[in-house]
Amino acid sequence: MKTIDELIAEGVTGKRVFVRADLNVPLSGTTITDDGRIRAVQPTVEKLVAAGARVVVASHLGRPKGAPDPAFSLAPAAARLGELIGADVAFATDTVGESARATVAALGNGEVAVIENLRFNPGETSKDDAERGAFADQLAELADLYVGDGFGAVHRKHASVFDLPARLPHAAGDLIATEVGVLKKLTENVARPYVVVLGGSKVSDKLGVIDHLLERADRILIGGGMAYTFLKAQGHEVGSSLLQEDQIPAVLEYLRRAEDKGVEFVLPVDVVVSEQFPDLKAKAPTEHRTVPADAMPAGFIGLDNGPETNKLYASKLADAATVFWNGPMGVFEHPDYAEGTRAVAQALVDSSGFSVVGGGDSAAAVRTLGFDENAFGHISTGGGASLEYLEGKTLPGLAALED
Ligand code: 3PG
Repeated sequence: MKTIDELIAEGVTGKRVFVRADLNVPLSGTTITDDGRIRAVQPTVEKLVAAGARVVVASHLGRPKGAPDPAFSLAPAAARLGELIGADVAFATDTVGESARATVAALGNGEVAVIENLRFNPGETSKDDAERGAFADQLAELADLYVGDGFGAVHRKHASVFDLPARLPHAAGDLIATEVGVLKKLTENVARPYVVVLGGSKVSDKLGVIDHLLERADRILIGGGMAYTFLKAQGHEVGSSLLQEDQIPAVLEYLRRAEDKGVEFVLPVDVVVSEQFPDLKAKAPTEHRTVPADAMPAGFIGLDNGPETNKLYASKLADAATVFWNGPMGVFEHPDYAEGTRAVAQALVDSSGFSVVGGGDSAAAVRTLGFDENAFGHISTGGGASLEYLEGKTLPGLAALED
C-alpha cells in the first residue's frame, strides 16, 4: 500500500486529490454530537493542504436511499472540518453534478471542498458492478489522485471505496495506516490474556467475530441488547428485552464451543430493567430497578448491566494484556442506563493492557461519557470495519489500495 507521504513526495501540488473519508458522524438535527471521525481525517487533509493539493473530501452519512435527503446532508460535517483546519471549506450541494464540478474547478492550491453525501447517488452502494462503475467514472472526473482514508467504510464494496481507486493513482491516508497497524496487533502475536467485550443490540451483527474470536480470545464478556439472546438461550426469562429468537441455536453452539476450548464466556449476572424504553431526547429520570439476570420480570426491558455485573466485568478486565471492545453495554445515551458502559470504559482506563475501542457507538460512548481518549490504547473509527478485519475477511477498501 502506498502511503500518503509517498504520494506527496511524487508531487501533489496543484493536483486534485479525492479523499474518501468517513464523515458518518452522529447528528441531532444539524448538530454533530461527536466529531471524532472528522478529527480522525484532519491530519490527512492538512498534509495535502500543506503540500498544495486541491483537496476534494467525500463521504457517506447515514443510509439515505440513493436520492438526496436533507436529513443526511454533509453540510454540517463540512462546516466542522473547516473549523478544525481553520480554513474555508467549500461545499458542493451534489455529488457529481454541476455544483460538484464547479466547486472543484474553483479550488485553488491548498484549498478544500466537501462534496455532498455519496449515498445520494444510487451508484455508490449498487450491487451492480456496471452501475457502481459508472458512478466511479463520474467521481474520477473530479480528481487526479485518490487517497483512501475512510477506515469506517473499507468493508463496503461501494463505488467510492472500491471502484474509484482502480481508476486513479492511489494511496492510503494516515488514518487507514494507523487503524490497520493497531488491528494487526490484535491478530498477530496478541499479548495475553486477550479479553474481548462485545455489546450492542444485535447478536446477528457479531456472529462472524464471535466465531473467529472463539479460536483466539481467552475471555469474552457479553453485554448490551445482544446479551438477552444469550440469557434466553440459557433458559432465562428476558421479559420484553431485545431478543433474536432465530439466533438461539447459534448462541448455544458458541457457548458449547467456548466450553470445549476453555474460552471463558461471561454473561451479565444482574441487569437494570424498566417497563419502558427511555426517551433519549428528554433524558428525564425513569422508573427502573436492578434484578438478577436469571429473574427478569415479565414485561420489563433490560437496558443496562447491573452493578454486580459491572464489578465482575472490571475484575475480568483487570489482568488483561490486550482488550478489544465493541458495542455499548446498555442504553448509554440515557444517564439511567449508562453505568454498564461507563464501568467497562473505566476498567479499560485502569488497565495497563493495550485496549482498542472499536465501533462508532462505543467510541462515541467513551467520548460522550467524558473519558479522555488518550487513556485508551486506540479508539477505532470503524465499527463494522474493525469487526470484519478481526474476522479475517478481505476488506474491499483495503484490497483496492493494495495494488
Ligand atoms: C459506520 O458507521 O460503521 C460506517 O460509517 C459505515 O456505515 P454503514 O454501516 O452505513 O456502511
